[in-house]
Amino acid sequence: MNRSSRAVIALLVLWLLLLPNVASQANRNNPFIWQVVVQYELGKSNQSATYLTDTSVKQYSQDFQTVFLYDDLYGHNERLLLDFGDGCPGTSMDNVQALNGNTSTSPSMMAQPSIALIQRGGRCTLWSDKVNQIQALSNQYHLNVGAIIVFDNATWPSVELITESTDNSSYPTWDASLPTTRNINNMSDNDIANHSNGIFLAIFFVPNVYGNTLKDLIHNYTLTSSGKPTQQYVQIAMFFSESTFSLDQDDNNAGGSGNADGNYWDVFTGDHAYIAYLLAAGGALVVALFFFRWCRTSRTGFGSRNDGSMDDEQAIGSGNIPLTESTHKMSLQKLDELCPVQEYRDAQETKNTICAICLEELNLHDMIRVLPCHHGFCVGCIDVWLTKKASICPICKYDCDHVQQTPPSQTDSSSTNAPTITTPPPTHPPNH
Ligand SMILES: *[C@@H]1O[C@H](CO)[C@@H](O)[C@H](O)[C@H]1NC(C)=O
Ligand SMILES: *[C@@H]1O[C@H](CO)[C@@H](O)[C@H](O)[C@H]1NC(C)=O
Ligand SMILES: *[C@@H]1O[C@H](CO)[C@@H](O)[C@H](O)[C@H]1NC(C)=O
Ligand SMILES: *[C@@H]1O[C@H](CO)[C@@H](O)[C@H](O)[C@H]1NC(C)=O
Ligand SMILES: *[C@@H]1O[C@H](CO)[C@@H](O)[C@H](O)[C@H]1NC(C)=O
Ligand SMILES: *[C@@H]1O[C@H](CO)[C@@H](O)[C@H](O)[C@H]1NC(C)=O
Ligand SMILES: *[C@@H]1O[C@H](CO)[C@@H](O)[C@H](O)[C@H]1NC(C)=O
Repeated sequence: MNRSSRAVIALLVLWLLLLPNVASQANRNNPFIWQVVVQYELGKSNQSATYLTDTSVKQYSQDFQTVFLYDDLYGHNERLLLDFGDGCPGTSMDNVQALNGNTSTSPSMMAQPSIALIQRGGRCTLWSDKVNQIQALSNQYHLNVGAIIVFDNATWPSVELITESTDNSSYPTWDASLPTTRNINNMSDNDIANHSNGIFLAIFFVPNVYGNTLKDLIHNYTLTSSGKPTQQYVQIAMFFSESTFSLDQDDNNAGGSGNADGNYWDVFTGDHAYIAYLLAAGGALVVALFFFRWCRTSRTGFGSRNDGSMDDEQAIGSGNIPLTESTHKMSLQKLDELCPVQEYRDAQETKNTICAICLEELNLHDMIRVLPCHHGFCVGCIDVWLTKKASICPICKYDCDHVQQTPPSQTDSSSTNAPTITTPPPTHPPNH
């Protein structure tokens, strides 16, 4: 077994080890929660929102579980929490008002979508009864409830609730799986799966300790310290992947806020598999490169490297391009003059059909650069190569920095010796 094949195996193992770890962060079944206190001026609607930055935290628990996802996967980050008690049939709007300091129909609350907080158990048992009651109240009073958080009525000493600063990009991982008593799939009062037809909001389950944390926050509803009477709410957002969490604090007044200290959170949501896909693609590329190299070395033998007989194909990916004659780099400006970015329209315009740097097939409408030697590359690949590595074509070693130099003599002479003059100007400037 030679060195390259050992490297391939080591990389494969590393890659396989890496993937499950990344995927084991927050996911669809075990979301994490971003929680922040937000204040509104009494009588004004959402226009006056002020986020209390000190209160902005991420909450993690293995007991956070998705009961019913509905279509809640993307970006519902401005929902305010309303306490609905046990949410059982018989719960009235007066009850909801009393539980929320008479704020549940205030202008600010009415301008925003809400999340209903309810306790498991109480006057009724089945979760579907609670959900139906909340949907009915929400419809009747236009409360715009978009999700429900059910918190456990039982307390378990081993429940972990981890509070992290939003600056902390780490996330906790769980050693063991959730005990069956705390797993929503083992709760006989959870009949949501059998009643999902009439449900049009998302349902999440949290442990008792977190339910009480939220209730404490809700009950701090009014505050007049700033001089202006304000209404205080808790804003909750579910996240299904750490990679989608991004706080963009912006001090300008965009968005119509009159607050000098207004902060804005932009949440870029996406599928939690994004990182895993990226890693998988990266891993596959590395493995492919090593494999390709290993195949070539075993074919030509170790002793016969770089004996001058290397053809174009062998030069690709071998890293054996002699840089002695041209180690200088090109400026992006010169690159733009020499071979402007163009759309790949016709397989005839390049001698190669695969970008030799990333080994991706060139597809119609890809943005490419065609070097004077008529070799074509993805813009992103060749720009880095020519501006950071060396000004020579990765395939034929034609030195692009010598504009006056004629392209090297071609065996398959489809070239016209007229460097890129026929290429159309770029439709838009390349990205910097
Ligand atoms: C809510 O309204 C009721 C009746 O109008 C009143 O008795 C109660 O004190 C109010 N609660 C708060 C917190 O203002
Ligand atoms: C603010 O409330 C208005 C309705 O009063 C609504 O149309 C608008 O989308 C809300 N803006 C935000 C950012 O929630
Ligand atoms: C919690 O609620 C369930 C379902 O109603 C009930 O069976 C259980 O006894 C309750 N547990 C506690 C500790 O109240
Ligand atoms: C960040 O989060 C990780 C994982 O939850 C934790 O171990 C670490 O202590 C946190 N760091 C800070 C500075 O809070
Ligand atoms: C808990 O639920 C899982 C499936 O969700 C099932 O396989 C298991 O047997 C259940 N355990 C108990 C103790 O009910
Ligand atoms: C859901 O329905 C299935 C059969 O359709 C039944 O076996 C199961 O017990 C039901 N679960 C609940 C919680 O009602
Ligand atoms: C309620 O508000 C007071 C005054 O701002 C604050 O000291 C206290 O920590 C708040 N309580 C909670 C649970 O946030």
